[in-house]
Amino acid sequence: MTDRGYDFVVVANRLPVDFSVSEDGEISWTRSPGGLVTALGPVMQGAGGVWVGWSGAPDLEHEPFDADGVRVVPIALSASDIELYYEGFCNDTLWPLYHDVIQPPSYHRLWWDAYQRVNRRFAEEAAAQAAPGAIVWVHDYQLQLVPALVRELRPDVQIGFFNHIPFPPLEIFAQLPSRSQVVNGLLGADLVGFQRASDAANFVRAVRRFTDLTTLGEVITVTEAGGDRRHVRAAAFPISIDSGHFDSLARSPEVIARSREIRAEIGSPDVMMLGVDRLDYTKGILHRIKAFGELLQEGRLAVPKVTLVQVASPSRETVGTYMQLREDVELLVGRINGEYGHLGCQPIRYLHHSYPPEEMAALYLAADVMLVTALRDGMNLVAKEYVAARWDMRGVLVLSEFTGAADELAGSVFVNPHDIDGMKDRIVFAVEMDYREQRRRMRRLRRRVMLDDVQKWSQSFLAVLSAVPQPPAGRMTAGPGPIDELRTALAGLAQDKARRPLLVALDFDGTLAPLVDGPDDSGMLPSAAEALDLIVGVPDVMLALVSGRSVVDLHRRAGAPVGTVLIGSHGAECGRVGPDGLELDPIRLDPEQTDLLTRIGAGLTAAARGRDGVWVQHKPAAVVLHTRMAGAVEAEAATAQALTLATSLGVDALHGKDVVEISVLGVTKGDALVRLRDELGARVVLYAGDDTTDEYAFAELAATDLSVKVGAGETAARLRTGDPRSFCQELAAFAGALIR
Ligand code: G6P
Repeated sequence: MTDRGYDFVVVANRLPVDFSVSEDGEISWTRSPGGLVTALGPVMQGAGGVWVGWSGAPDLEHEPFDADGVRVVPIALSASDIELYYEGFCNDTLWPLYHDVIQPPSYHRLWWDAYQRVNRRFAEEAAAQAAPGAIVWVHDYQLQLVPALVRELRPDVQIGFFNHIPFPPLEIFAQLPSRSQVVNGLLGADLVGFQRASDAANFVRAVRRFTDLTTLGEVITVTEAGGDRRHVRAAAFPISIDSGHFDSLARSPEVIARSREIRAEIGSPDVMMLGVDRLDYTKGILHRIKAFGELLQEGRLAVPKVTLVQVASPSRETVGTYMQLREDVELLVGRINGEYGHLGCQPIRYLHHSYPPEEMAALYLAADVMLVTALRDGMNLVAKEYVAARWDMRGVLVLSEFTGAADELAGSVFVNPHDIDGMKDRIVFAVEMDYREQRRRMRRLRRRVMLDDVQKWSQSFLAVLSAVPQPPAGRMTAGPGPIDELRTALAGLAQDKARRPLLVALDFDGTLAPLVDGPDDSGMLPSAAEALDLIVGVPDVMLALVSGRSVVDLHRRAGAPVGTVLIGSHGAECGRVGPDGLELDPIRLDPEQTDLLTRIGAGLTAAARGRDGVWVQHKPAAVVLHTRMAGAVEAEAATAQALTLATSLGVDALHGKDVVEISVLGVTKGDALVRLRDELGARVVLYAGDDTTDEYAFAELAATDLSVKVGAGETAARLRTGDPRSFCQELAAFAGALIR
């Protein structure tokens, strides 16, 4: 903290403490359990941090106060705010929508109004607390508008956002009436973090669908109202727990003794199974209990040998779907206990309470089989807590495929909770697993969980936040430039000999050749061919074609005149049209790049398999997925798979018009243009292109160069024409003027 504010501001719906105020105004607080507090505690204390969050009860107001070295700033919400914003929009619209519509979301305009209002309150408070240049870290789905609102108020701060829950596939997210506002709210951040790579890919797809912004891999280029551009990065940062703390808690003699006591209290069964969840319909509690009941019915499990302890901590008890869930769970538990229980022995011990970490550690240590059967879960920290508590290398984790944790926790027994029969088999498999196999699996699980703890998570998020690359200075314009402006600029360039040597660099598809469904059907417009023939013969003027195609393909397709330089594969390849045909500088890949190329090929082939109109093209240093001929749904699905593949392989995907290209060489048309200009010693460059990939070239041009965007869409180019035909006409006129 300085007198100008705090350098590190956390904004979350919940505070890191639960507090109450007595009648005489005395405040008392307890630290809330939960990983976020632990993760951020050291950063907060080190950096002079402040935490802005809801006070937790209706109309509970209090001045900011210090708790455990953290400045706490409570935001008071009225009973109506809580009903409309928290219970309504957060937990009856967004929560079910973001969890794969397991329950139907409700959409009410009043709830949305309240969400906007409350988000503004949080943002105003955060902006007021932040020191100049501070880091503001906003958390979770309750506050998705806060990043843009904070940026509006405080353009000087760095803003991170982390979504703790899933970000849904486009087809589901599209239901949200305020989807564009939500996407734009999040884009106020410099870094938008998600639990899984697939969540980040879903978000980038939503950006592409609901905005006109360009994206390259996980980087989105945003244009501000004034025309300034900035990059927003969307990436996965799987959250974890304070593993070391849980491990040592579970090693303490008190916890070990308590774990023995627990087993004795429940009648010393041979096998204790455990479920620990917030009582939430996303957790698959009913599916789990149903499977357990059927196993008892079929005699594959039997009391008193096996007991299931189900901790279901109370949650969101005023929301209708949660009330209904509680009734359903309790009815089912009652039925199973009634049917299969005896005096003094119940198959299910159901506990509708929350417990402190010590008791949780003892429960984990006591349980032979941990059941995490969520239908959808951003991460699921219970799974990681169980692993961290099992220093004794015993116990089996049964884990739903639909949790974020499933991406990381190889060694679990994976289940699809919707497949009750399959889940029953996997539960029996877990119950019968011998100790050697348990140890083998637990060792693998612990390697991961003990290494990737929550502090590492926050450090890596903050490190990436401070290093989000920013685009070269330049302005994007959305309005179409008049054709006259282009004509005048080209005429001026043709006449001015002082602006030589001149490099004329032109994209091919969509610029000199109209876009067609298949790349093999494309052909240069006659006016373009005529222009190129003229340009190539002018002294002190160099001609280059710059394309995403391979050089061999570009040479064949374009039929450019002798003397033309050919840049292919988005800048990775180079060649020249010589008197005897193509003179190619072949690309040389090292073994690692060759191997990566094979894996990209296999991954994209899998993405295209079984999808009509989706096909794969192999290039010397890249593989391309084409979706132009596919239906919208197939195209979206294949594209998402391709983007996820790129993220998992740690390479950038170039996402252009109906194509995703994944290259093993991270070069762009911009890099190639800079190289070519240097090699040729060009004083001025004329560059024209139509696609996202050409923006990299535009970004490298100087004010004295000429840049032409062909077609609609945002661009950094200074001039524009409507389509390839009109551009080629202007180019032909320009070529004619050059030779005069
Ligand atoms: C999930 C969400 C959190 C939320 C928690 C408890 O873990 O990601 O943001 O705080 O559930 O829910 P509650 O509604 O009680 O805050």
